[in-house]
Amino acid sequence: MGEYRMLQIEKLTHVYGNGTRALDGVTLAIPPGMFGLLGPNGAGKSTLMRTIATLQTPTSGSIHFGDLDVIATPELLRRTLGYLPQDFGVYPRVSAYDMLDHMAVLKGIAGRAERKETVEALLHQVNLWAVRKKALAGFSGGMRQRFGIAQALIGNPQLIIVDEPTAGLDPEERNRFLNLLAEIGDNVVVILSTHIVEDVADLCPRMAVLAGGRVLLEGAPLALIEETRGRVWQKTIARDELEAHRERYRVISTRLFAGRTIIHVVADGAPGEGFTPVQGGLEDVYFSTLDASRRAA
Ligand SMILES: Nc1ncnc2c1ncn2[C@@H]1O[C@H](COP(=O)(O)OP(=O)(O)OP(=O)(O)O)[C@@H](O)[C@H]1O
Ligand SMILES: [Mg+2]
Repeated sequence: MGEYRMLQIEKLTHVYGNGTRALDGVTLAIPPGMFGLLGPNGAGKSTLMRTIATLQTPTSGSIHFGDLDVIATPELLRRTLGYLPQDFGVYPRVSAYDMLDHMAVLKGIAGRAERKETVEALLHQVNLWAVRKKALAGFSGGMRQRFGIAQALIGNPQLIIVDEPTAGLDPEERNRFLNLLAEIGDNVVVILSTHIVEDVADLCPRMAVLAGGRVLLEGAPLALIEETRGRVWQKTIARDELEAHRERYRVISTRLFAGRTIIHVVADGAPGEGFTPVQGGLEDVYFSTLDASRRAA
């Protein structure tokens, strides 16, 4: 194939009917490979995903996939799109095989033999072959998400969007799911939205942080972590000292450990007594970015 396409999002704004500005001038250039979209509840992730998936029309701005104008010709994008919504919702008393077959028909795979081949290959790929005759209604959360990725992969899409796919999965199922994503080819643009920092750290060579409908940060996780070098400090305190520390320092995260509280603080120099420098991780990048934007607000 050898056909590489970038997803270019320019000044995308979405204001819902009730006045909520869910996206506020989002500009992103997303190359082939895994792209992590990290943001807290209400950040605008699903709004952005649904807009790229052509399920809703933005108030303003543009989206291009290669030279394809997504907003002007949504039907062309849909031919090359795989989408796993945050709330896949419908789990009928239909077998995984029959449902996938039905979805392949909708995706335009008309030939019986081709469809059989596609459906069988996908069921093997997501490790649902053994339960292909079982009703989706009886699937566990992890099985449902694996079915969800199977339907998103029908027809070899060049753009795949998965919206918070690992929420609620146990660690083993989460791993299985992330491994499936990691196997998708390097030529495909895969956008993974999540509020779980490790999903991005484990999988994505590029990422952005979205909050309040705006892109707060964009780049390669390793480079972003590198930028925090020497600026993250740790201290173990008693729980009742937390408020005082919040008032004095830029506390970006807190964690309980054996009944005490471990805090991380960002500061350009040593903040004072009891602090030790720590090698920051992507979580520190994320929390300090959110913290800085809250302070600016
Ligand atoms: N249909 C809608 N009508 C009005 N407001 C909406 C609608 N959908 C979302 N919103 C609002 O838009 C903002 C962004 O919501 P969105 O669902 O895109 O965020 P999210 O990042 O996906 O959040 P979550 O992590 O909880 O899924 C929120 O303030 C939300 O309440
Ligand atoms: Mg969402």
